[in-house]
Amino acid sequence: MTPVWAVVSGKGGVGKSIIAVSLAVGLASRGHRVVLMDMDTGLRNLDLMLGLENRVLFDLVDVMDEHATLEQALVVDKQRPNLSLLSTSQIAVPSAIAATFFKRLVNMLRTRFAYVIIDCPSGVGHTFTLCMDVITDAIVVTTSDDIAIRDADRVVGMIRSRGAERPGEEGPTRLHLIINRIRPDWVARRMQYPPEVVARTIDAPLAGALLEDDEVPRCLIARRPIIEGDGKTWETMDAILRRLMGENIPLPSMMGERRLFGKRRRQ
Ligand SMILES: Nc1ncnc2c1ncn2[C@@H]1O[C@H](COP(=O)(O)OP(=O)(O)OP(=O)(O)O)[C@@H](O)[C@H]1O
Ligand SMILES: [Mg+2]
Repeated sequence: MTPVWAVVSGKGGVGKSIIAVSLAVGLASRGHRVVLMDMDTGLRNLDLMLGLENRVLFDLVDVMDEHATLEQALVVDKQRPNLSLLSTSQIAVPSAIAATFFKRLVNMLRTRFAYVIIDCPSGVGHTFTLCMDVITDAIVVTTSDDIAIRDADRVVGMIRSRGAERPGEEGPTRLHLIINRIRPDWVARRMQYPPEVVARTIDAPLAGALLEDDEVPRCLIARRPIIEGDGKTWETMDAILRRLMGENIPLPSMMGERRLFGKRRRQ
């Protein structure tokens, strides 16, 4: 069955979109046919991140409304021919996307691509609910602070209960956690929790932790996915992708045994 990965978060602005783009580009560069769906309806930005903004003439709402065909809405990235982008509307509201259409669309994409990667908006609104019914894997992104962690914990709880209810042969949704914007100096000064502590608190398997890195805004300005950048962040992103693909890549330790304030750690 074609994997369908959704990149989700409770709190906004934690790095979902840069991560979704990198996962899709990384898979495409390994020779897989990938479709990257921008589901941040009203606030899409993956076209810009990939430098494809002038090529998006139609979006998935146009397909739903039968103003365009799926072929017209799918934009093949000429630099990376294995990668296609399917944008959502910049003007519609998320609730405009009908559940029956969305399910049909994802099922159709699954027959044509080897991976479907969905960049979700933050939070647990309409789009999140739509995605929960179609995905095989949820990639939860959080930063290492109390507010983002609490929201991520809530999202993980909802994925677990929703995934367990899902009928059919897919089985429960697989969960993966990515902690973003870690600053080791802040971890050392107890201003951020170590990634392992966050993962244990949320009780979800850690796929990796990305450092706060100037390379990220540099890549954004150059319209280059971080997985095509240089240095530590590229390496970490590549290792995360390999873990998500099932390779056994040990996690580097950023360990600290500190407990989260205000929340008892699950063992
Ligand atoms: N590891 C990092 N180091 C430095 N800056 C980062 C890092 N990760 C993300 N950022 C910055 O954070 C900003 C938000 O990233 P991004 O748009 O991917 O978040 P998002 O979770 O998709 O946001 P939204 O919830 O609005 O969709 C970007 O401008 C990016 O430059
Ligand atoms: Mg985003």
